[in-house]
Amino acid sequence: MRPFDDRNILLVVTGGIAAYKSAALVRRLRERGCSVDVLMTENAEKMVGAATFEALSGRPVHRSLWERPLAHIELGKDADLAVVAPATANTLARMAGGHADDMATSTLLAVDCPVVVCPAMNTRMWTNPATAQNVATLRDRGVAIVGPEEGPLAEAEVGMGRMAEPVTILSELGRLLEPPGGLTDHKVVVTAGPTRAAVDPVRFVANRSSGRMGFALAESAWRRGASVVVIAGPTTAEPPHGPRLIRVEESGEMLDALRAELDGAAVLLMAAAVSDFGPAEALDSKMKKEDTGDTVSLELRRGPDLLSETLDQRSSGGVFTLGFALETHDGLENARRKLEAKGMDLVALNEAGHPDSGFDSPTNRVTIIDPDGAVEEIPLMSKEEVADRLLDRIEAQLRVAE
Ligand code: CTP
Repeated sequence: MRPFDDRNILLVVTGGIAAYKSAALVRRLRERGCSVDVLMTENAEKMVGAATFEALSGRPVHRSLWERPLAHIELGKDADLAVVAPATANTLARMAGGHADDMATSTLLAVDCPVVVCPAMNTRMWTNPATAQNVATLRDRGVAIVGPEEGPLAEAEVGMGRMAEPVTILSELGRLLEPPGGLTDHKVVVTAGPTRAAVDPVRFVANRSSGRMGFALAESAWRRGASVVVIAGPTTAEPPHGPRLIRVEESGEMLDALRAELDGAAVLLMAAAVSDFGPAEALDSKMKKEDTGDTVSLELRRGPDLLSETLDQRSSGGVFTLGFALETHDGLENARRKLEAKGMDLVALNEAGHPDSGFDSPTNRVTIIDPDGAVEEIPLMSKEEVADRLLDRIEAQLRVAE
C-alpha cells in the first residue's frame, strides 16, 4: 500500500530492550508491501534472537562486516530508507562521531538514503547533555529523529526514553517516503467519528460511526505534508499520531471547533457522522425506571448542520470541501443534492446496508461525484486506501484550480 509499496527498508536493530518492538515494525512494514533487510548489532542479539527477525523479514539477518567483502556497501545501496530502531545512547554517539567499526555504523555511514533514528534509553541517559548534543548533530545532518516517548521504562522507572511505538514509526516513515505533493504546508481540517447528544448524565443518542474513515483521511493528508487538525467525536479507534487532535462530544462543540479551525484552512474533509437529532432537553439527573412506565417517549430536536452553518465562512475562505453522503436509497440523486445544498466541492457517496462498507467497517466502497456531475466509482478497499484515492483526487483538483 502506498507509499510503502515495493520499497526497500534497511532496519538496524541495536542493543536496547525495545528491540522486541522492532519485530512488530518489520511485520507492519512487510504487510504494507516493503522488503526489509535487518541488520543486528552484537548487543541487539542479546535482547532478541536473529531467528525472530529472519522469520518476519523472510531474509537472513546481517550482523558482521566479514559476512562477505563490502557487505556494508552492498546492503545500503538499494535502500529507500534506513531506520535505526531502537537506537541506544551509544549508537547515537557513534553515529554522531562518524564511527565505522562494526557492520551497523559502517553501513549507516555508507548509505545515501534518508536515515531515521528511534532512540530508546533511560531518561537520565536521554537528558544527558552528551546525548542531547549527539542528537542535535545528527539532526543538523538531516537525520530524522522519531521519539522517544514518555512512559514506563525498564527498571520500573517512568519517564522520557521509551522507543516510539511501531505505528508511530510507521507513520513517520510513510511521511518520509511520500513524494511531496500539492498539500505540502496546506492546513487541512478533518472531522471524524460520531457526535453524542445527552439524554441524561449517563445516556446519550449517537450513531455507529467508528471514526476510521476520518482518521485515515487525516493520516493520508498529514503524510502528504499538510498541517492537519482532526476534530473527533468519541471513538475507540486509534487516532493518527501526526495530526493535532481536538476531542469533542456534542455537535455544538464540533461546530465551535470547526469554525475556529477553518481559519486559514485550505481543505475540509468532513467525515464526521454528526448526530442530526438529540433530545430536546437533557435531564440533569439519571432517568429512573420507577419514574417511567414501560415505554418512554423522547422528544428529539434537530441539531446544527455543520456544513450549512459554515458555508459562508468556507466560501469566503476558499476552503475546498469534501463531504460524505450516507444513503439507503436514490444515492446518486441525494448525494448530488447534498453537494449543492451544502457547498461541497466533492462528495463521497456511501451506500448504507453493505456489511463491508460504511460505518464500523475496516473497508469502504464509495462513489465520488463532482459539481459537474462526473462520477467515479471506488471499489471495495481498505479505508486507508479509499482515503488515499480521495486525497489523490483532491490534490488533482487543487492543481487544476491553481
Ligand atoms: N453533516 C453536517 N452536519 C450534520 C449532519 C451531517 O455537517 N448535522 C455533514 C456530514 O459530515 C457529511 C454530510 O454533511 O459530510 C452529509 O451527511 P449525511 O449524514 O449523509 O446527510 P445529512 O445532511 O445528515 O442528511 P440526511 O440525514 O437527511 O440524509
